[in-house]
Amino acid sequence: MREPKLPSVYKLIALNTVDSTNAEAKRLAVRGEDETADGTIVWAKEQTAGRGRRGRTWSSPKGNLYCSLILRPDAPASVAAQLSFVAGLAIHDALCLLSEPGHEVLVKWPNDILVNGKKVAGILLEAEQSSGDVPAWLILGLGLNVGVHPEDAEFPATSLRFEGWPSTEIDVLEAYCRYFLSWTSRWLDKGFEQVRKNWLWRCKGQGEHMEVRLAGETLTGVFADIDDNGALVLDQDGHQRIISAGDVYFGGS
Ligand code: BTN
Repeated sequence: MREPKLPSVYKLIALNTVDSTNAEAKRLAVRGEDETADGTIVWAKEQTAGRGRRGRTWSSPKGNLYCSLILRPDAPASVAAQLSFVAGLAIHDALCLLSEPGHEVLVKWPNDILVNGKKVAGILLEAEQSSGDVPAWLILGLGLNVGVHPEDAEFPATSLRFEGWPSTEIDVLEAYCRYFLSWTSRWLDKGFEQVRKNWLWRCKGQGEHMEVRLAGETLTGVFADIDDNGALVLDQDGHQRIISAGDVYFGGS
């Protein structure tokens, strides 16, 4: 396998096996900025304890992309959390760059990427739980099914290989890192509104009926919008409900 070529702002830590790149990134991040700068990226060929959102396991055999970016934005937690949408756009655009004609790539709220209607990637954002408002670090984890995908996942899953794309983990990592830089500059220059609009242009299901599963209840309604904080706006017969975390299902998914 060739070495990834990343823009010089990134510092790559390449591992064969790790429990979880997010966990490893967190262990490095707590050592402080002098040791682990903004832009450090932990990449592993496999994970033995890959984590998904909401306490799920992320299946992590060899053949897929597992990476976690350490970021140190000087922003309150609620603003820094917008970076998961920045990452979603970067992955989307990276996949569009690498894709063959005729494939559909979409983002899905809150942090999934779909290829041809099935989940190909997920993002796990974790932040330092600081006493102050500005977290000292943020970990942006990305799992992307390149060569293999789970058959028994809660959301129907796919991989680039299954969809017939020849791209490797390294092709995807390189394209993702380049697009992440350009989307981060747009976010810094123009704010979340630019990101929000672009995310909505690329998203699954705006205006469609959906089910949202929360910790203790299931809601139905129409996916109306995402708000200034990235929360989902669900229209329930003209009454808008704002949802900041949950699992979303559209008809047939
Ligand atoms: C999701 O539930 O959709 C998010 C999945 C995120 C998985 C990635 S794989 C790399 C990084 N390390 C982890 O343990 N999780 C994230």
